[in-house]
Amino acid sequence: MRSKIVAGNWKMNKNLAETEALLTELAAKLPDTEAEVMVAPTYVNLSGAIRTLEGSAIQVIAQNMHFADSGAYTGEISADMLIHIRIDTVILGHSERRAYFGEDDEILAKKVGTALEKNMRVMFCFGEELEDRKSGNHFSVVEAQLKNALFDLPSSAWGNIILAYEPVWAIGTGETASPEQAQEMHAFIRKTIAEAYDTAIANQVSVLYGGSVKPSNAEEIFSKPDVDGGLIGGASLVADDFVAIIKAI
Ligand code: 13P
Repeated sequence: MRSKIVAGNWKMNKNLAETEALLTELAAKLPDTEAEVMVAPTYVNLSGAIRTLEGSAIQVIAQNMHFADSGAYTGEISADMLIHIRIDTVILGHSERRAYFGEDDEILAKKVGTALEKNMRVMFCFGEELEDRKSGNHFSVVEAQLKNALFDLPSSAWGNIILAYEPVWAIGTGETASPEQAQEMHAFIRKTIAEAYDTAIANQVSVLYGGSVKPSNAEEIFSKPDVDGGLIGGASLVADDFVAIIKAI
């Protein structure tokens, strides 16, 4: 179902005490909102985050997972481990996983497949690099990322997919895609899905924007018709900034 979503990707930030403190502040300041609000702390703090948020509408989600059910994969985490601690949504395909940990479309397709098989929701991240945009290849790069990781899925899987368009050049750089650039790409994403599947699926999927979203630009980005919310990095680590972004939706 297409819903508004504001999610905070905390990346490799905050120890357990800091996680609990930030979540306690966030839960106390959470405004009334139609949006789903999610936070993705680092693995070791997921259980603590869930305990801290008991009774709050804020959902705890994971930043990554492995595609295998279990086995000799040192340092990895499985879908079942996440489900066991009541996590039902996982971010997959973040550009930092692609760039620093060698996650390619093939690996991501497997991860997406496993998560969906386990009935988890997937927040699938993708987006072009600066050179792609400069050379005018951004649409074809995004189309290929979607096609290679997602378009073998049956139509029925799409109810559990959330998309997050994150142009790599806008992540952590202070450089935001303009609201017009975001809208243009989000409309293209829906058109691409409509061609591969149908307009009903294209219109029901939530498409978030990520990349230097802040209180000062959130409202304008979220006002675009094909932008259903945001995946927030740096600004989600400061309670007042994240709350201001939630209020902007
Ligand atoms: P920033 O908001 O820090 O640019 O990070 C965006 C992001 O990568 C969220 O996943």
